[in-house]
Amino acid sequence: MAIKKITTSTLQKMKLNGEKISMLTAYDFSFARIFDAAGIDILLVGDSASNVMAGNETTLPITLEQMIYHAQCVMKGVNRSFVVVDLPFGSYQSNSEIALASSIRIMKETGAHAIKLEGGEEVAESIKRIVSAGIPVMGHLGLTPQSINKFGSYIVRAKEDAEAEKLKRDIKIIEEAGCFSVVLEKIPALLAKVVTESVHIPTIGIGAGKYCDGQVLVMHDMLGINSEFKPRFIRQYQELETLISGAAKEYIANVKSNDFPSDGESY
Ligand code: KIV
Repeated sequence: MAIKKITTSTLQKMKLNGEKISMLTAYDFSFARIFDAAGIDILLVGDSASNVMAGNETTLPITLEQMIYHAQCVMKGVNRSFVVVDLPFGSYQSNSEIALASSIRIMKETGAHAIKLEGGEEVAESIKRIVSAGIPVMGHLGLTPQSINKFGSYIVRAKEDAEAEKLKRDIKIIEEAGCFSVVLEKIPALLAKVVTESVHIPTIGIGAGKYCDGQVLVMHDMLGINSEFKPRFIRQYQELETLISGAAKEYIANVKSNDFPSDGESY
């Protein structure tokens, strides 16, 4: 039977039907293949690759070329999921022409299905231009990690009225500009509920409570690959750091004691 691929209209129908949307990040072929086969709706090639793959403190250093490389790897593992790629810092903020050029590179060189960018009113022109070129755009509001130097920390956003009101305006503006969906990061659950109900496009939350139309987590966080990073909004489904470290220690001991390889593991 042919695989039914997820598209922007599938995601729209899921919101209408009240079916929650599942999204995880992926940065390489092997994990994309596993998550796709497990049935994930959306795979995000997030610029969190800068943190979890490259070891940087922020998402700012990752380049467009590096994002394209990760997206190319992910696309090779995908049959069904809808793949969204982050426009990295510096690849869209200057003006809408540069934003469109960066988006076209991602679509042409990776075969991904959509791009994501951070911001509200200030990126509305770019969203319009990218969407009119036929490229689906996912927005990202609330805590926008590319602006970490403006915020100064990764604390919950929009707790104060002024910022909450701006977010309510911004989500309408980016919906109007053509976004097919939006990530809401680290905002109060009740604000996420209000804005989710105020728009027709699906909202995908991370640290934004249960009223969003879907949820996203960074794969390393939900798999417990970095046991030191455990903010309250993460549910850790595995403790892979412990498992991987245990396997590595056992392998090292086996090599040192000449227990590996055995005769059966030799030619
Ligand atoms: O880059 C990323 O992983 C993201 C998620 C936090 C939504 O943007």
